Amino acid sequence: MSQSPTLFDPITLGDIACKTRIFMAPMTRSRANEADAPTQMNALYYAQRASAGLIITEGVYPNFDGKGYVRSPGIVTNDQIAGWQKVADAVHAKGGKIVMQIMHCGRIGSYHNKADGTRSLAPSAIKAKGEIYTDAAGMAEFDRPEEMSLADIEQTISDYGQAAKNAINAGFDGVELHGTSGYLPAQFLSTGTNKRTDKYGGTLEKRLRFTVDVLAAMIAAIGAGRVGLRICPGNPFNDLTDDNPEETFRGLIQAINPMKLAFLHVIRMKAGVDNIALASEFDGAVILNDSYDLQSGNRALASGQADAISFGRPYIANPNLTETFKHGLALSQPDYKRLYTAGPEGYVDYD
Ligand SMILES: Cc1cc2nc3c(=O)[nH]c(=O)nc-3n(C[C@H](O)[C@H](O)[C@H](O)COP(=O)(O)O)c2cc1C
Repeated sequence: MSQSPTLFDPITLGDIACKTRIFMAPMTRSRANEADAPTQMNALYYAQRASAGLIITEGVYPNFDGKGYVRSPGIVTNDQIAGWQKVADAVHAKGGKIVMQIMHCGRIGSYHNKADGTRSLAPSAIKAKGEIYTDAAGMAEFDRPEEMSLADIEQTISDYGQAAKNAINAGFDGVELHGTSGYLPAQFLSTGTNKRTDKYGGTLEKRLRFTVDVLAAMIAAIGAGRVGLRICPGNPFNDLTDDNPEETFRGLIQAINPMKLAFLHVIRMKAGVDNIALASEFDGAVILNDSYDLQSGNRALASGQADAISFGRPYIANPNLTETFKHGLALSQPDYKRLYTAGPEGYVDYD
């Protein structure tokens, strides 16, 4: 009789062999340098967390228009690729695995945070309600986005494929497409933000097309065994609304099942949709996230709901979370005032 796996057991997701099922969830920490490239400090931060079975990095923009947040990194220029190479090397030297989360913010951003000459783009020219932090002007309203032309869409899809290639060239084990939290793929998926009438909007199938095309571009660039997708059906973050998120995401899962992705990463947030039940409709490895601990994570594995669990906030102040769990130690609490501040404090000074 085979025993059900625990968080301490290994797992292989597509082409990525992970030593445990304790994964680090993606977390923006706003500490890239002035060229939006990772530094030696970022390499140290990720290396400190290399005991994770898999690290999923903070969101990284695939082109300049895709930047939304202050001091957030890209994977576009040679400087940025070289910076990420330092990160991948440092994690691999400690026996870890690392995938890069590719995040295009679409309409969620401020020109104060973006390079001169870049644009705020979205499926439709609908401004999100809300504000975003900028170093230049404090809290600022989100930009009013331009509706993307078909040429903009084709270029963006191609940029996602190139970003995946750049991540592999920097030594990464794979990429995760950020498909939740109100950013560009979620803006295409959702009825409230996608009012297009061309082949990228209107019917469910057309709303799905952008995300499916981006995944196809990434797969063409680096192979399906190194590409994952993160979703959170029903997540209203960043002023996102959808008439029927359950139908949207069921359709998306059906559309991506034949693509044989390395994993589907699902935030279980209760937002009107049973995301755990929906995740079970995916034909591959499922990573679940959101407010898990050792016990609830092991229960999710034992019940077959998840193949691995990702932990976000616990990794901020407990870099060696595997050891913390193994020895049943109490979790240290993060300094929440320093989540997004520049510099090493509250970033690489936990042990
Ligand atoms: C500081 C911080 C930054 C985050 N940045 C990202 C991000 O860049 N991409 C993303 O998909 N989720 C991001 N998240 C969400 C986390 O990945 C995760 O879903 C959330 O923290 C819930 O998991 P937890 O209960 O284990 O912390 C962030 C969360 C925090 C706390």
